[in-house]
Amino acid sequence: MNFKTQIKKPKFNYDFEIDEFNFKNKNSYLMQKIKKDPVIKRAAALLKKGELVALPTETVYGLAANAVDEKAVKKIFTAKGRPQDNPLIVHVASRKQLEDIVQEIPLKANKLMNKFWPGPLTLIFSKKDLIPDQTSAGLDTVAVRMPAHPLMLAVIELSDLVLAAPSANTSGYPSPTQAAHVYNDLNGKIPLILDGGHCHFGVESTVVDIRKGKTRVLRPGGISREELAEFLDEKVILAAEDSQADKAVLSPGTKYRHYAPRKKLFIFNPAAKDSIIKKALNRTENSKIALITTRETKLEIPNFLRENFKILKVFNRGQPEELAHKLFSLLRQLDADSSIKEIYIEELKSDGIGEAVMNRILKAAAAENYFEPGGGDN
Ligand code: TXA
Ligand code: MG
Repeated sequence: MNFKTQIKKPKFNYDFEIDEFNFKNKNSYLMQKIKKDPVIKRAAALLKKGELVALPTETVYGLAANAVDEKAVKKIFTAKGRPQDNPLIVHVASRKQLEDIVQEIPLKANKLMNKFWPGPLTLIFSKKDLIPDQTSAGLDTVAVRMPAHPLMLAVIELSDLVLAAPSANTSGYPSPTQAAHVYNDLNGKIPLILDGGHCHFGVESTVVDIRKGKTRVLRPGGISREELAEFLDEKVILAAEDSQADKAVLSPGTKYRHYAPRKKLFIFNPAAKDSIIKKALNRTENSKIALITTRETKLEIPNFLRENFKILKVFNRGQPEELAHKLFSLLRQLDADSSIKEIYIEELKSDGIGEAVMNRILKAAAAENYFEPGGGDN
């Protein structure tokens, strides 16, 4: 495993609005054109040979391999340094591909797929034997989604493979939302990164288990719990809050340190911002701290404090989409900035896509127990 990693952009500029991209234009002129692009052909050929390729999706970049090729999938775990007991999501481009790998498609799954596929919704199914243990981490289930990104769909269609693809980061580090992030983590370990620009959502797909009657979110993501509940007209439970859940089996990946920058990351409650900033500045002896905060909070920070930190990244309160889109990218950028010692991020309301954002921030901060709800001592 020693590659000269290439980042390749397809010839055409495939900037597209996610809302305009749906099933109907999967067979569009654009898709036909994409499939003829030499870079797409190369990606498909590498995957057919059992190699890994990093591909853009609408959520984050994925590190793809042929999901039914045990050896190829093993390479994903090696390249990422991923624990073996954390199963992968399989990506499909058609219903036929789904039927090939799952035992049955429950009615509710069908309904959800019709509404949210292609898109950031992953569903758990009983798997067929075709999916090897390496992909499912020995579980009898398989997680499947249809990504809403024309480049990824084109590669799946052209290779005629179902693709196992976790986020294309080194395990534990923030997920990649740009090709350069993938390069930073996996340079030398994979032959090709397909550059599809910035990912639209910036957080991963929502992982949902509908088996056993209930609708349970194992991992919050791009489709919110409210959207699912409204569409299904039923209660949608967050698995982490479901006391009866057997967490060890339900979503193995959630037990690991995740999404974390190497620097210390703290979550702060805006009501306690002044004391937290003062303490932080004392502790870091006025070396710069980075604040990721809302515009509303920024305005309330007294001038004498503002002068002491230069880096201030802002988003609008009540618009968590903005932070979701930038979060991983900001964490990577601040991590790489040697003038920054610690990162502080404002706690936000855990609803809509805010639930996914808070989930990622809590995991990243909790990794080192740096969570300071309301600004307690550390
Ligand atoms: O948006 C996404 O989902 C991205 C893009 C690349 O598609 N992929 C992604 O994969 O986030 P990954 O491997 O980073 O996260 C997959 C999550 C993990 O928490 C894993 O434990 C869970 O899905 N998972 C996978 N298969 C499962 C299964 N059979 N049962 C329960 N959880 C499963
Ligand atoms: Mg991941």
